[in-house]
Amino acid sequence: MNRKRVVVVTGAAGGIGLGIAKRFAQDGHPTAMLDVQEELLEQEAGALLEEGATVLACRADVSQRADIDAVYAVVRAQFGPISIVVPNAGIAPVISFAEMTTAHWQRVIDVNLTGVFHTIQAALPDLVEAGWGRVISISSHAGQSGALSMAHYSAAKGGVISLTKALARELAGGGTTVNTIAPSVCETPQMLRAIEANEFSLDHVTPLIPIPRAGRPDEIAGACAFLASDDAAYITGQVLAVNGGIYM
Ligand SMILES: NC(=O)c1ccc[n+]([C@@H]2O[C@H](COP(=O)([O-])OP(=O)(O)OC[C@H]3O[C@@H](n4cnc5c(N)ncnc54)[C@H](O)[C@@H]3O)[C@@H](O)[C@H]2O)c1
Repeated sequence: MNRKRVVVVTGAAGGIGLGIAKRFAQDGHPTAMLDVQEELLEQEAGALLEEGATVLACRADVSQRADIDAVYAVVRAQFGPISIVVPNAGIAPVISFAEMTTAHWQRVIDVNLTGVFHTIQAALPDLVEAGWGRVISISSHAGQSGALSMAHYSAAKGGVISLTKALARELAGGGTTVNTIAPSVCETPQMLRAIEANEFSLDHVTPLIPIPRAGRPDEIAGACAFLASDDAAYITGQVLAVNGGIYM
């Protein structure tokens, strides 16, 4: 039987993060939902509260360490120490490398890579103190094989994969596992925006996937629940590709 653990999910107002937050909350774990979209977040957290889940909606920009520190203080006061950390928040602007300014580059690195650093490092004292923890980030197929007109995004996601491996080594002796889930085409607002910006449609993309359809947030959430469970205690430093087989 898995114990109830305090969970933090970033980017939880929509898409994959919302799917993950719902899954943990419905499994009975007290779940803190962080996002910059305050109104949407309140609405989604409100719906879960009505179902009887224990959730907390917190406005935080993951690129700002002060936001994360402030929100974690509230989470600890309301729920107790954090045990499961899911850095999921990300942005995916589409722009050619030639047109990319330093500001474009920096924002994607700040949110998609440094945001993962802040989200994990600020929770670390709780994981170390408990001698048990789970870190499950959401990287991307782009970090494994690159993505068109998304050099900054691909670099950040490749960084998340390397961070996962380095941190897995550092934390393994202390009871915390560190893994990353790499989706490819998952039906969310971000994916639909990226496909539109590249002037594709889902119908162009899905025949390229061995399982010829887009993934769903609840399928990423299922993998996340497994990696957080006691059944996954001996799995660390891994990239779990939940991608219909598009990258093997
Ligand atoms: N959807 C896909 O096909 C796909 C594929 C590979 C990887 N991913 C990754 O999965 C994660 C979730 O993607 P999604 O498709 O659900 O995206 P989404 O845009 O639908 O949702 C992302 C959420 O993150 C929030 N967010 C953005 N910037 C933030 C910040 N600075 N601080 C806090 N919250 C912030 C947004 O408000 C939004 O609610 C991302 O890291 C993304 O790169 C998605």
